[in-house]
Amino acid sequence: MRGAGRGHLLIVSCVLSAGLLAAVSPAAEAAPGPRYSPGSPGAGDPYFPDMGNGGYDVGHYDIRLAFDPGTGAIDATTTILATATQNLSRFDLDFQGPLTISKLSVNGLDATFTRSGAQELVITPPYGLRKGSSFVVSVSYAGVPQKIDDPALGLSGWVATKDGAIALNQPIGAATYYPVNDTPDDKATYTQTITVPAGLTVLANGEPGPTTTRDHRSTFRWFMNRPMASELSMLAIGAYNVTRGVTPGGLPDITAIGQAIDTKPGQGQVFNRTTAQIVQWESSVYGPYPFDSTGGIIADVGVGYALETQSRPVYDQRTSDVDGDLLAHELGHQWFGDSLTPVHWSDIWLNEGFATYSEWLYQEKVNNIPVQQTFAKAYADEEDWSGEVADPGRDRIFDDLVYNRGAMTLQALRMQIGDRAFFRVLSEWPTAHRYGTVSTQQFIRFVERLTHRDLGAFFRTWLYQPGKPAL
Ligand code: TRP
Ligand code: ZN
Repeated sequence: MRGAGRGHLLIVSCVLSAGLLAAVSPAAEAAPGPRYSPGSPGAGDPYFPDMGNGGYDVGHYDIRLAFDPGTGAIDATTTILATATQNLSRFDLDFQGPLTISKLSVNGLDATFTRSGAQELVITPPYGLRKGSSFVVSVSYAGVPQKIDDPALGLSGWVATKDGAIALNQPIGAATYYPVNDTPDDKATYTQTITVPAGLTVLANGEPGPTTTRDHRSTFRWFMNRPMASELSMLAIGAYNVTRGVTPGGLPDITAIGQAIDTKPGQGQVFNRTTAQIVQWESSVYGPYPFDSTGGIIADVGVGYALETQSRPVYDQRTSDVDGDLLAHELGHQWFGDSLTPVHWSDIWLNEGFATYSEWLYQEKVNNIPVQQTFAKAYADEEDWSGEVADPGRDRIFDDLVYNRGAMTLQALRMQIGDRAFFRVLSEWPTAHRYGTVSTQQFIRFVERLTHRDLGAFFRTWLYQPGKPAL
């Protein structure tokens, strides 16, 4: 209200003073009011040009969602707290699929909106938003969310399951069920308040709040109080057996297994305890664990991969085996990928290389298989040496190139700089960029500064040149 009034006054006074000044001195210009322009419809990632948006920075998402397993429909209101980073006449959120918006407001006032292309929700508030000012966007919507099936990147987004639904959002799924600035470069805190028929369980990132049940419906609350990239947000609704534990370091450890697949006696306890032990061990190698709780979910999702969703990874039962290696991988991501997140998807080896290296370290720890031996085998067995690790191309972000050659790059670096410097890198790199975003160039500079060495040629060979590097 106040802003709109001021806008009117400004227009009136500009018109008046322009006339007056023109009469007195033709050269003088009217003092221009602030200029407002639309925010960019993309965040500038070459692999995913439409993902994310420009002109504002999200601080918090409040997702309130009711799910009906009978119809598969959701009924939701997502409220976003953001700050304008330019004078905004208009801005986009990412939102895709068949969900219907019933109401959209900015700072409590109805705003005009259109849907454009596959995933742009274009919002025009009733008045311009000044750079630096915070604003609240509230979107109410309903419908049956549709997962994404990308030929190269597989299934993601809101996935219906036999007993509920699971949302896995890497890299482009979040917008299938909530309006979002879907770029790793705009981390935010989250509140998820999810209502389901009584009897079902809801798990999500972070810490649980109180669950309330009335009229045969239960409402679960989950809080992620550390910055989180949208691709790492997660929601799991279904029939779960939940195990609560605590790591040796005192961190809450909440794990769950889908009831239909929880057939081995004691499996829940083993999963919970192994998670706690690995988090504890990885903290001793990578530095303090970045979040306020840990855990994991084993479910029959049907996507065929596990995902490092923040604080609580999801393991599809169809991933070959939910074993210690996989746990070490997804939990290793909590430092590499989740707390530190590449700004650009081309740099995803900074996640997958380190997560794969976590498996190699784990094999050394539990089975006495030296990392160097795992490296030698990977180096000898690898057949495809095409592609650049630090620029694999959109369709190859989940390739062996990124995972295996990424981990090989780290072991090759260890041989270059020695164990002492290498293990300093493993803990100081995530500590220096905790909760931030990173790039390959930053990593190279970081290692060079720490070692006082020029490693340009080394990293060029391993990260940017196709072909098998000589040892
Ligand atoms: N990033 C996941 C991990 O390594 C794996 C993953 C996510 C994936 N989406 C994928 C693998 C699509 C293959 C295809 O933990
Ligand atoms: Zn991974």
